[in-house]
Amino acid sequence: MSSTTLCYSEQIANSEKKYIAKGQKIPYYPVAIKEGEGALVRDYDGKEYIDFLSSASSANIGHGNKEIAEAVKEQMENISQYTIVYFYCKEPIELAKKLVEITPGDSKKKVMYSTTGSESNDGAIKLVRSYTGRSKIISFCEAYHGSSYGALSLSPISLNMRRKIGPLLPEFYHFNYPICQRCKYGKNKSNCSLECLKEIEYAFKHYLPPEEVAAVFFEPIAGDAGLIVPPKKYVKGLYELCNKHGILFVVDEIQQGLGRTGKWFSIEHFGIEPDLITLGKSIGAGLPLGVIIGKEEIMDSLNSPGHLFSMTGNSAVCKAALKMLEIHERENLNEKSEQMGKYMMNRFNQMKERYDVIGDVRGLGMSIAVDLVKDRNTMEKNYEAAAKVCFRCIEKGVILIFIGQSALRIQPPLVITKEQVDKALNIIEESIQEYINGEIDDSVLDVIQGW
Ligand SMILES: Cc1ncc(COP(=O)(O)O)c(C=O)c1O
Repeated sequence: MSSTTLCYSEQIANSEKKYIAKGQKIPYYPVAIKEGEGALVRDYDGKEYIDFLSSASSANIGHGNKEIAEAVKEQMENISQYTIVYFYCKEPIELAKKLVEITPGDSKKKVMYSTTGSESNDGAIKLVRSYTGRSKIISFCEAYHGSSYGALSLSPISLNMRRKIGPLLPEFYHFNYPICQRCKYGKNKSNCSLECLKEIEYAFKHYLPPEEVAAVFFEPIAGDAGLIVPPKKYVKGLYELCNKHGILFVVDEIQQGLGRTGKWFSIEHFGIEPDLITLGKSIGAGLPLGVIIGKEEIMDSLNSPGHLFSMTGNSAVCKAALKMLEIHERENLNEKSEQMGKYMMNRFNQMKERYDVIGDVRGLGMSIAVDLVKDRNTMEKNYEAAAKVCFRCIEKGVILIFIGQSALRIQPPLVITKEQVDKALNIIEESIQEYINGEIDDSVLDVIQGW
């Protein structure tokens, strides 16, 4: 198609190829976002979309928030930042105090800043090694914890991400996450005896000395693996296994934190106080910020200087984060996420009764997966359905992606209205119907790539 027949938004998407390296993209649809307000975004041609992705769960508070813009502007007019590596600013201290207050557990805690979620996980790797004096680290198959070398070493999500760039960091071990929908051990609820946990116990007996393991890095909901909610007994069992061997329990809340699941932190659903929590994405309220929150003795175990970034914890970003947390509390967004999440799950479960292509609906709060399958008995993933439904949803005005090769990722801004939710859910249902009727062309599969 010649560029003259493309709309402006598509032209922008196309021009990106010329200037930005392809390694920074997982293409879904050629839409270029110009502006946003709450749960709505508009492209450069003025077309409106309901955002069901929240910019990869980075915009829990929604888009175009004027109060946040005002807070940042005021700070920028004073001074945007002065590096906290050498001197002191009030805003990062205020933010650290607030974060410690909302973090679960009674232990004394401290905060460490970085610029992205990936860097937070890198910092956490340093901390757990430094505190325990151990080098080995456990994380889970299909997990994504970020793109920097440390975070990527934790992330066995994609072969392509790991090709030609090795070696990654040594001493990382990956075990099966409890994906009960497709149990790797062929078990079901009635005969499960936590075989996936036993695999770690087996490793501890035969080839992985537990006294050399520094930490387990765990997502309380496995995000990019397909939004998998683990059984509570597994999480409790894993935590106890860690305690037994002096292994630290680190939770990555970068995608699921800050109200996404109906609580500040998704680990709160499991009643566990982790040793460290990593945050990113929504914490910066639209600006880049990463945070590690953790028990004081672990946080202070890293030598000075140990994890420094000139721009991080800067006053303008911290002002944005503080304002975001204030709005989040004022507008009861945790409760709203829980309530609206239940409503959405209900509607998706009704759809599941009507369409066999929906194999599973799962999630907590407003972090929901609608898993599309070829066969409900085998739960064979239906990549084609996921790709086509996603594409059609975006065409019809709902921004959506899929993960784990088959699961629609439903994570709207927590400020979304019921009217917007209903409209988007109707579009998703229509798109599923059109897929079933064979009305979505195969050419879609050339455009959309997915994880
Ligand atoms: C669970 C999880 N951890 C870490 C990251 C990496 O965060 P960032 O992209 O801010 O580096 C992501 C990003 O998608 C994520 O979902």
